Amino acid sequence: MNERMDDRPVALVSGANRGIGREIARRLAEDGYLVLAGSRAPARVEETESIVEIELDVSSDASVDAAQRRIESAIGRLDALVNNAGIFGGHESVAGYDLERAHEVLETNLFGAWRLSRASLPLLRRGGHGRIVNVSSGAGQLSDMNGGNAAYRVSKAGMNALTRILAEDERSHGILANSTCPGWVRTDMGGQGAPRSVEEGADTAVWLATLDDEGPTGGFSGTASRSPGDPPAGGRPAPSFRARRARTAGWVGRRGRGARRASRRRRSPRARPGGSSPQLRARREAACRALAG
Ligand SMILES: NC(=O)c1ccc[n+]([C@@H]2O[C@H](COP(=O)([O-])OP(=O)(O)OC[C@H]3O[C@@H](n4cnc5c(N)ncnc54)[C@H](OP(=O)(O)O)[C@@H]3O)[C@@H](O)[C@H]2O)c1
Repeated sequence: MNERMDDRPVALVSGANRGIGREIARRLAEDGYLVLAGSRAPARVEETESIVEIELDVSSDASVDAAQRRIESAIGRLDALVNNAGIFGGHESVAGYDLERAHEVLETNLFGAWRLSRASLPLLRRGGHGRIVNVSSGAGQLSDMNGGNAAYRVSKAGMNALTRILAEDERSHGILANSTCPGWVRTDMGGQGAPRSVEEGADTAVWLATLDDEGPTGGFSGTASRSPGDPPAGGRPAPSFRARRARTAGWVGRRGRGARRASRRRRSPRARPGGSSPQLRARREAACRALAG
């Protein structure tokens, strides 16, 4: 652990070079985190003082292990993991799905999140307040399951199960694990006809990554069952990030001032984002050098 290098909370976001992942990374950086922005090819993330690219292909053991080794040696801790990387596959039904393609979808969406969570747990446990956010989809909700998009649905149903299991398994380590559906969002995956912006799509994931210790675990939150491939519908949008955070803060408030102060300390970024002091710059350069291995 190298607290000297950077004492901001640290978040790792997979698939952060575009789409919803890039927006989650940007928002967490704005919220005071040092964000490790995963990209499976190098030089695709616009780095800032608070966003550092890290090469990460979630479907590869070697890539995930290499990324974790770099984080371990450069920073030595992780406060939040956002499993965002995902692929859609195709719209085919069970009968028509090419199984090799289905394996690829599950390897990325389900086993990618499993692989990266498993590798990150030692670092997340270390601080006693780790957060895992699985960017899932209403398409994987068993209670509201339609046909078609077979591999994608199965992968996200598996991800929702993974979330609940992780939440129980890691409760004693202070880790909170939750899934969220971003809704149908205008990205390469969602297409330009989708009703939601990336800002709206990232909202709940950012809230879940920054939960107080009293926040929920093992849950699924999102917007009805809208996902790419589902017909558009006017699902009621999830409450905004700020509204939800205010609500969480309310729970804390009921537990008294001491708890509120302690919780604020745990949640508060230790350095504010956007600053460009020579000290922050030096820390960031040190992090980049170390992460480059
Ligand atoms: N957009 C929607 O309407 C919608 C709805 C429900 C759920 N979601 C979920 O939200 C998440 C983000 O979706 P999006 O709309 O932002 O999709 P997107 O624009 O297609 O971006 C997907 C991201 O995942 C990355 N990725 C794919 N496979 C990867 C791998 N093996 N290793 C590392 N990164 C990988 C991509 O990297 P490359 O650039 O290298 O391909 C890209 O950065 C996904 O999990 C998706 O299932 C999206």
